[in-house]
Amino acid sequence: MRRSTDRRASTPDRYREFAESEARGLSACYEEWASGIAHDPAMVALIDRLPAVKRQPNLVFSAARFCGATAGPYVDFARWLPAHWPEVEAVCRTHSTQTNEAGRCATLLPALASLRGPLALIEVGASAGLCLHPDRYSYRYVTDDGHERILHPATGPSPVLLDCAVSGPAPIPEQMPEVVWRAGIDLNPLDVNSASDMNWLEALIWPEHDDRRARLRAAIAVARQPAVEIVRGDLNEQLAALVARAPEGATIVVFHTAVLLYLDGQARGRLKNQLATLPVRWLANEGRGVVPGVLERLSATPTASSDFVLALDGTPIAFTQPHGRSLHWLG
Ligand SMILES: C[S@@+](CC[C@H](N)C(=O)[O-])C[C@H]1O[C@@H](n2cnc3c(N)ncnc32)[C@H](O)[C@@H]1O
Repeated sequence: MRRSTDRRASTPDRYREFAESEARGLSACYEEWASGIAHDPAMVALIDRLPAVKRQPNLVFSAARFCGATAGPYVDFARWLPAHWPEVEAVCRTHSTQTNEAGRCATLLPALASLRGPLALIEVGASAGLCLHPDRYSYRYVTDDGHERILHPATGPSPVLLDCAVSGPAPIPEQMPEVVWRAGIDLNPLDVNSASDMNWLEALIWPEHDDRRARLRAAIAVARQPAVEIVRGDLNEQLAALVARAPEGATIVVFHTAVLLYLDGQARGRLKNQLATLPVRWLANEGRGVVPGVLERLSATPTASSDFVLALDGTPIAFTQPHGRSLHWLG
């Protein structure tokens, strides 16, 4: 577990760790805010009014920006936050980090296209379901020898173009997989037609990541036409019933990305055991060591320490950048 989300760690430790290990190199603003808070007892006292699980920097900063804080120097933020604390506290208590990154489809697509179609997709931990539309986005894969492969939906270029750098013998598809049915499960589904839900998704994107914000807006527009059903509930409780609703004759693919870190070991094991008994293929895109049995089967080392492991039916097949920017296929 990252120290910033470890509720047993002190607030200064959580913010210091977030500044140094998570924000550095990715968000100068969040690095400065988190480092400022780690050294500011008054701000720590404010944040400590929240339950420990809600004190994580990513949640507090997203809530602040959702309530109108602007990215800028820490001195301004340190004035702004106490003045707006009641609104920010309410958002922290009612919201959670549910970042939905359509870019992850770029790392899922080669695996999906390698399966016998047509496909019925079930995403567990779907958030707003933006990863349930891999066949409705355009892709630009660039291999490490500089070759570019562009792939569009069957209907033509999509307003969402996902860039992905590829290395290793990745089976970049020539054609989109055919998806005939799609549905999701989430503890708290976000509604692509709710302005408030979509503003929350936008607030979860770090200040400097303008490309991700633009992609989010475009992906929301795609996902609205038509909106896909996302069943509310726990993935282990809802999965079997949803699988039973998938159309006959389709290959049912249950997939998840950046979800299993929210589950304890018992729930992860339960999901794995359940998937083994259902008539489905299983595609997992998660941090190393998060999916039961995958780490033990890894014979290579991820290219970057933050890389996810993509595993098909429990077998690791690629390392992936967590937001889908790159894919390293294993031999
Ligand atoms: C970080 S988001 C990832 C969303 C999406 N998979 C993506 O990659 O963009 C994790 C999602 O998992 C959901 N989640 C966490 N635990 C869950 C559970 N036990 N059952 C269903 N959904 C869960 C959260 O509500 C959240 O929307």
